[in-house]
Amino acid sequence: MCGIFAYCGPKDNAGELVLSGLKKLEYRGYDSWGVACKNTDSEITIEKHVGKISGVDHLNKDLTDKPCHIAIGHSRWATHGGVTEKNAHPHSTEGNEIVIVHNGILENYEELKKELESNGHTFTSETDTEVFAHLIQENMSDGFENAFKKALKQGKGRYALLAISKDQSKILAARRGSPLIVGINEDAKEYFIASDIPAFLEHTKKVMYLDDEQMVSINDGIKFFGLNTEEEVQKRIIEIDWDIESAEKGDHPHFMIKEILEQKETLSRAINQEEDNILEAAEVIRNAYGTYIVGCGTAGKVGMVGTYLFSHIAKKHINFMFGSEFGSFLPFMKDKSLMIAISQSGETADTLEAIEEAKKKGVKIISIVNVETSTMARISDIVIPIKAGPEKAVASTKATTSQIAILTLIAYACAGKLAEGKKLLVETASQINDMLNPRYEGYIREVAEKIADIESMYIIGKDLNYPIALEAAIKLQEVSYIHAEGFAGGELKHGPIALISEGTPCIAIVAEDETKPHILSNATEVKSRGGYIIGVAPENNSVFDYWIKVPNAGMASPIVSIIPIQILAYELAILRKNNPDMPRNLAKSVTVK
Ligand code: M6R
Repeated sequence: MCGIFAYCGPKDNAGELVLSGLKKLEYRGYDSWGVACKNTDSEITIEKHVGKISGVDHLNKDLTDKPCHIAIGHSRWATHGGVTEKNAHPHSTEGNEIVIVHNGILENYEELKKELESNGHTFTSETDTEVFAHLIQENMSDGFENAFKKALKQGKGRYALLAISKDQSKILAARRGSPLIVGINEDAKEYFIASDIPAFLEHTKKVMYLDDEQMVSINDGIKFFGLNTEEEVQKRIIEIDWDIESAEKGDHPHFMIKEILEQKETLSRAINQEEDNILEAAEVIRNAYGTYIVGCGTAGKVGMVGTYLFSHIAKKHINFMFGSEFGSFLPFMKDKSLMIAISQSGETADTLEAIEEAKKKGVKIISIVNVETSTMARISDIVIPIKAGPEKAVASTKATTSQIAILTLIAYACAGKLAEGKKLLVETASQINDMLNPRYEGYIREVAEKIADIESMYIIGKDLNYPIALEAAIKLQEVSYIHAEGFAGGELKHGPIALISEGTPCIAIVAEDETKPHILSNATEVKSRGGYIIGVAPENNSVFDYWIKVPNAGMASPIVSIIPIQILAYELAILRKNNPDMPRNLAKSVTVK
């Protein structure tokens, strides 16, 4: 949800460096973009455009003609104000005195704007962000740092904010609930600020973390402060072990297919991690008075799979709720309750808010996250990293299967059978390795070609694969833009079956277990009404019009069942000429409520 990138250092092409860094953050927002360069003549020049940044080679000459050592940039996912050049960031006060970029929402912007307008400020955009620029300017007589702090104190909501001033050679940055990381090349005295690490990986692997309610001031040195204190905060430099290749597309046409194929390795990485973590989580669950899994979107569907896994494997009732709906269940949270938060990014605002509210009640938090440096990881009591490596396509794929694998391990550990769970998952990973080959992809492409022009499709599953039917629908919706809906197979006859007509595609996820006859019978009901049945199953069946074979994986059936549907969604996106990495209206991590 909006990408921020900034450079401050000795190189005199800061604008171009920011342009290139922003391209790596485009997955966070891609409806418009902009860069501001502060040149050596104490001028700030801004360029902004509607549309994607990926096709842009150079900035305009007026940004690059003069040497520039400080630049800030932004790629936007619109919240307040339509997708227009005016609403694109950076935003500024008159004469570009103060220029800012912002990720998040300034909740009380309307009242602040009214006040500023009555003090003579004129606004040029419909955004909440512009208010911050004017708030800073209003207090500049107290000094840039104090004005910045004052503006942040007046603002309500979650955000990351960067500001530069025409008359000062520095960047100020602060965060409250939205990600912002500083990259440092100490020898070259270069500093980068970005919403995510891959953006500056080619320059440095050394980072300093800005925590919530903190700000950083960067010129030819770097200083961190608390937003509510005067004292400087001491920070450590941390070297991260991400490699550049894992954050790039390599030979693949899109991140989505690269990440789908990476599941051969990512699953093994998830399984072969610190056993102590898994055992500790299992122990905490065993002793908790009520465990609540929380997540949003795909991570939410993974959470739902978790409830079935714990029921079957550990004979334990675990609750699930979407982060955005969690507020209604807060009254049940006691200091002995436990929350398991699931997230790829670790920055999803709805999930973070659920955690924060639960923490206020003394609830212990286990987080299952991919981005180990994320806010969620930093505020949790136990962190189980899924080790999937950077996931850049908006549609979550490899993180999904790794999260399911971790929940499976914890459920087995809860039942005192961790070794059994590990064995099952190791076998499954090796079967997936065999399954993910070009022939398999080609076979799925064939069915995609058959259904590429349809308007609606349905997915049915039962038991562990009911949430997978829901997740399959998300995958298909977000990249193919086909109307797709997932159902528990047994629920069709209570209403949704009215939607089936001649040729309507319906994916039936059929596991090789006691649920098989039931879901096959549901598929037959659809077929009798003209439906075209695509079976995702270990065994073929006469009800299937098209069969996509998956391994017989027992309790790991959700993992093997979702992968071919991820491929199908990708192939449909390509056939329908959609960009699967950057689907319309979406952003990779949703850091607003
Ligand atoms: O980063 P998170 O896992 O917390 O993100 C949650 C959802 O926004 C995310 O899973 C979303 O639904 C994906 N685009 C689905 O592919």
